[in-house]
Amino acid sequence: PDSLRALGDRVGLAVGVAVAPGHLDDPDYARIAAEQFSSVTPENEMKWEVVEPTRGAYDWAPAEQVMAFAQANHQRVRGHTLVWHNQLPGWLTQGVGNGTISDTELRSVLKRHILAEVSHFRGRVWQWDVANEFFANAWDPNPLPSGVNGDNFWVQHLGEGVIADAFRWAHQADPRALLFYNDFNIAGEDGDNAKADAVYAFVRRLVRAGVPIDGVGDQGHLDTQYDFSGERMRADLQRYADLGLKVAITEADVRTFVDDAAHQNPTNPLAKFAQPYEYSQMLQACLAVSDCLSFTVWGVGDAYSWVPGWFEGEGAATLYDVDLQPRPAYEAVQQDLRLA
Ligand code: G3I
Repeated sequence: PDSLRALGDRVGLAVGVAVAPGHLDDPDYARIAAEQFSSVTPENEMKWEVVEPTRGAYDWAPAEQVMAFAQANHQRVRGHTLVWHNQLPGWLTQGVGNGTISDTELRSVLKRHILAEVSHFRGRVWQWDVANEFFANAWDPNPLPSGVNGDNFWVQHLGEGVIADAFRWAHQADPRALLFYNDFNIAGEDGDNAKADAVYAFVRRLVRAGVPIDGVGDQGHLDTQYDFSGERMRADLQRYADLGLKVAITEADVRTFVDDAAHQNPTNPLAKFAQPYEYSQMLQACLAVSDCLSFTVWGVGDAYSWVPGWFEGEGAATLYDVDLQPRPAYEAVQQDLRLA
């Protein structure tokens, strides 16, 4: 009764987790993923490099492992992700690089990818992250006037109109799936909110143009060394709801600098307060917006988190420690759900 999923169910919020099928044979991992969460996101298994490693030959098996786990445990699925610049198959990037795949052909290759993947999972995916990480950050040198990153692989070859097309193709293949735009630092995470405002203006144009977009996901990858405003996050989520859209926190974690090999001991003693607090702020922002459908954390425990591999010296970012024991952030999330 005190699991995150049971507490979330009481208030109509799905509490999700990113799952990697390779870890499901760890019984503690599988037990926590099943008992605590009502939604799962395949961490890598629906990405293009995994589903079509050889041109024209689809491999749905890794994603189907996650689908089977979700079905067995009565969980919904967030599909992640259809159009992204990362984790593209080698045949595609090489073909584009050496000119054997022209931009015209690339467009039909992308359309076919979206139609194939969304049709394959038709009726089984609740929310799709259709387009992922298209907007420029403060450090990206070539933003377009819209704020879309001009250096994005897809934008370079197909123009920013590819984003709207991706939603149209996905909608064609599964008219009932909820179609999301997903990105990071778009709700209260960066000081001047410039990226957040650019995404909002762009999404509002899509909505007004009748593009079949249903929602916006903020990833929620936080770091205790940067400012974060929960109130700003709430307001930024609410303005999408005011456009008639759904919202979600899709990849929450809160990393911090650590000084041990297991990536468990924060160097800053204040991190043990900051982490639960920032999780709590994100969750409360979502709870305060009635159209916030789900709050998803990115990884079951620290041992399986992407953080130490990507940010040197950082870790301790998830709700469970390396031994899959709940961390203070778990208690904070649980308490917020209890009081919701
Ligand atoms: O599968 C190969 C394996 O065969 C190989 O031996 C091994 C050696 O490095 O790499 C394995 O691939 C890794 C893959 O995860 C699967 O574990 C890649 O190197 C590694 O780069 C990849 O990282 C993923 C990352 O996306 C890549 O872009 C992370 O697991 C995943 O958590 C992360 O997720 C992204 C979201 O999709 C979008 N938002 C940001 C988020 C964090 O980066």
